[in-house]
This record gives sequence, C-alpha cells and structure tokens, in this order.
Amino acid sequence: MSQKILVTYASRTGATMGVAEEIGKIFTENGAQATVCPMTEVADLTPYDAVVAGSAIQNRQWLPEAVQFLQKHQVELGKRPFATFTVCMTLAMRNGETYRPSVSEWVAPVRKLVQPVSEGLFAGVLDISKIPAMGDRLKFRLSVIFGVWSEGDHRDWEAIRTWANELYPQLIPTHTYG
Ligand SMILES: Cc1cc2nc3c(=O)[nH]c(=O)nc-3n(C[C@H](O)[C@H](O)[C@H](O)COP(=O)(O)O)c2cc1C
Repeated sequence: MSQKILVTYASRTGATMGVAEEIGKIFTENGAQATVCPMTEVADLTPYDAVVAGSAIQNRQWLPEAVQFLQKHQVELGKRPFATFTVCMTLAMRNGETYRPSVSEWVAPVRKLVQPVSEGLFAGVLDISKIPAMGDRLKFRLSVIFGVWSEGDHRDWEAIRTWANELYPQLIPTHTYG
C-alpha cells in the first residue's frame, strides 16, 4: 500500500502554498499518496503515515496558525515522521545564504514542540500588491527602494525538489502507532 503523506501549509500570499504543492508532486512521483492542504483545514492526523508542515515567515516567526497547528497536534505529530519547511525573503537577499543559520533559529520554537527529521529553508516571493495591511505594504516598498529586498518570485524550484526527493525515504515510519 502506498505511503500516505500530508503536506500542510500556512501561507498568506500564496508562496508557501506553491512550495507545498511542489513537494506533494515530488512525493506523488515517488509513489506516495500525498494530500496538500492548509493547516487550518486539517482536523485529524490519524489517516497519515507522515506529515510535512511548512510556514511563511512573518516578523522572524512561523505564522500563528502554524504554531497553533503544532500545539494542537503535538502528540500525533510526535508519533510519525515529521519534517518542516520555511519560506522567507531573507534567503532571497543578495547575500541571503549567509543568513541561513539565523533563519534556522526562527524555526527553534517549532523544534521545541516536535522534532523534525529534516528542515527545508527556502527563499519566497515578494509581491507587495498581495500584502493586505497598508502599513506592511509601505514598509516593504521602502525596503525595496533601499535595496534590502527585491520584488518577485525567488523560489528555487530545483532546491525544493532536491530537498523533497531526499526527504522522501526519511518519511517511511520505523514504528507502528495507534
Ligand atoms: C508582514 C510581513 C512580514 C514579513 N516578515 C519577514 C521576516 O521577518 N523575515 C523574512 O525573511 N521575510 C519576511 N516576510 C516575507 C515573507 O516571508 C515572504 O514574502 C514569503 O514568501 C511569504 O509567503 P506566503 O506567500 O506563503 O505568505 C514578511 C512578509 C510579510 C507580508
């Protein structure tokens, strides 16, 4: 029987959703039955053999609904292979790779709740027109003017696919659960 994997995400402007869909596609290509959906729509983890959860970063943190998802399902997540991915703009900066350790630190609260087998860290998208709050839009316009971040889709699909392909064998459960 094929492996049932949940790929669940918290996304505000769609970038993390796109990453989740790509990861789900890779698992399907590997022969798994992948379900991709927002964390807010997940009621029960018992149908799944493994879970991959990803969030966009806002203000150096996972989104609140993503943290709530982990808190709510902490016990069930601990019984299955679990991995995380994080999507942010810092990794899209000119010298973004040098910030990888800092970005990894933003995931520390997640690690405290459930220990992942792997953590993907990916550059995201800056589409200012999709940011709902006017104050945030202004802040991002200024950061673009000052050259901190640049607008556009910075997702590295090759890096995302490589991570998902390498992750897949780690999602095979090593124990039974009930
Ligand atoms: C209000 C707001 C705050 C953000 N804060 C950060 C941040 O602290 N660090 C960072 O690297 N990116 C930050 N970002 C950039 C997002 O993480 C990035 O645009 C991501 O691709 C958004 O993913 P989503 O489309 O799935 O919501 C922020 C974006 C917004 C709208």
